Amino acid sequence: ATFSMTSGTDWTCDANEALRLSLVRAKDDKTSLTSREAYEGFHPTFTYPIYGEDEKIYGYNDLVIDLKFASGSLATYLHVGYSSKLPINTPSAGVIDDVEGKLRDFIPGDYSTSLPEFLEQVESDALSFRPYGEKIYSYSRPASCLMRRRLEKENEALNTEKENGNGRNVVGITQVLSPEDEETVEFEVYHSTWATPGFREYHRRMQLFILLYIEGGSYINEEEDVWEFVVLYEKRKRRHSPEISTYHFIGYSTLYPFYCFPEKHRMRLSQFVILPPYQQEGHGSALYTSIYQYILSKPMLAELTVEDPAEAFEDLRDRNDLKMLLSNQEFMKEAFGDGGSNGGGKVAKVKTRTRPAGSGAKGGKGGKLGPPSDKAWMEKWRIGLKIASRQFNRLMEMLIQRSLD
Ligand code: ACO
Repeated sequence: ATFSMTSGTDWTCDANEALRLSLVRAKDDKTSLTSREAYEGFHPTFTYPIYGEDEKIYGYNDLVIDLKFASGSLATYLHVGYSSKLPINTPSAGVIDDVEGKLRDFIPGDYSTSLPEFLEQVESDALSFRPYGEKIYSYSRPASCLMRRRLEKENEALNTEKENGNGRNVVGITQVLSPEDEETVEFEVYHSTWATPGFREYHRRMQLFILLYIEGGSYINEEEDVWEFVVLYEKRKRRHSPEISTYHFIGYSTLYPFYCFPEKHRMRLSQFVILPPYQQEGHGSALYTSIYQYILSKPMLAELTVEDPAEAFEDLRDRNDLKMLLSNQEFMKEAFGDGGSNGGGKVAKVKTRTRPAGSGAKGGKGGKLGPPSDKAWMEKWRIGLKIASRQFNRLMEMLIQRSLD
């Protein structure tokens, strides 16, 4: 390649732009829902743990770091491409970033560098891959709903592009119906620990997403035995062999149980990520609900706490906790008296931080939430519902706010 230090390029690339992630499905697992670009070539939010504080890579033009994962097994392919690169060892050029070397420190060394080989592995892994651990939760959605939501999301993204003046002549995408849209898509959550055979290696492949999407995220210590994991998958019938199901990674969460006097454990949710192609479709809420249900089901677990929640996660948690409380008739009845008449609002619409009131005042006649609130009553429910004190108090405040005019 030719190079010039004065050619108008500064040989610096934005690392978040350069890194392109893909979740690759086998041919028979591609449907009208998945054939869209959204699964291929999405970008990280953060790369500073890998490429340094300013998230810039020096020494290349048109750098593309192509990092592909098999959609289920997360088998990995890496290719670094560019139109030109400064020659190494040129004194005037400075230190050229070792793009692959820096990434190699964070991913298992068994990645493929041959695309044909990788695509072959995608095909075979699709048939052999099964989630690790024990299934603890599942839910399903009509494919048509998912399809509609994806189209909405794509149109939202196109509109944002347009508003940002990114030139392209944008035509809104409209729905194309296909036979698969009649299908129901299943989603399953699996629980595992380090002791689950094969899971340690699997975790080494997925932990990169923590660095790429959680601000301040870092790898957990494999030497600490107590970590627990929940992983969410899409389970899909194959197009041409519907008797076969395949699994596709969506996101996961890590959990750390702490001893809690005198005889129980408090489960701390530590990391939580849903990959971008699947965000804003309710999967984060479902994964959170699965964790909460799991904790409710285990007598030895006293409560769920969250480590240093990001704002988006806090919103998700509030929304789901409120929904749970509002649908608990016994709780609502005791809280507000009057047959819990304050309930029933559509929780998805509750703006937990900004919206002061629900639809009209139905403030409790004799309800335990007061005023004044019955502290002993609150503590009884808090313990029963296994919600951490601070969060429970916030939720009670939100409910009170909501009930005021
Ligand atoms: N139609 C319209 N809106 C919808 C629909 C739908 N069908 N489904 C969901 N939404 C909206 C929700 O109402 C919600 O809206 P809001 O942002 O205005 O509150 C939004 O989509 C997100 O809700 P979910 O879809 O349930 O959540 P998602 O799957 O997008 O996951 C998460 C959220 C986990 C924050 C995800 O964006 C993510 O992984 N981000 C990067 C990593 C991260 O920040 N993790 C948390 C760190 S904190 C910690 O680890 C403890």
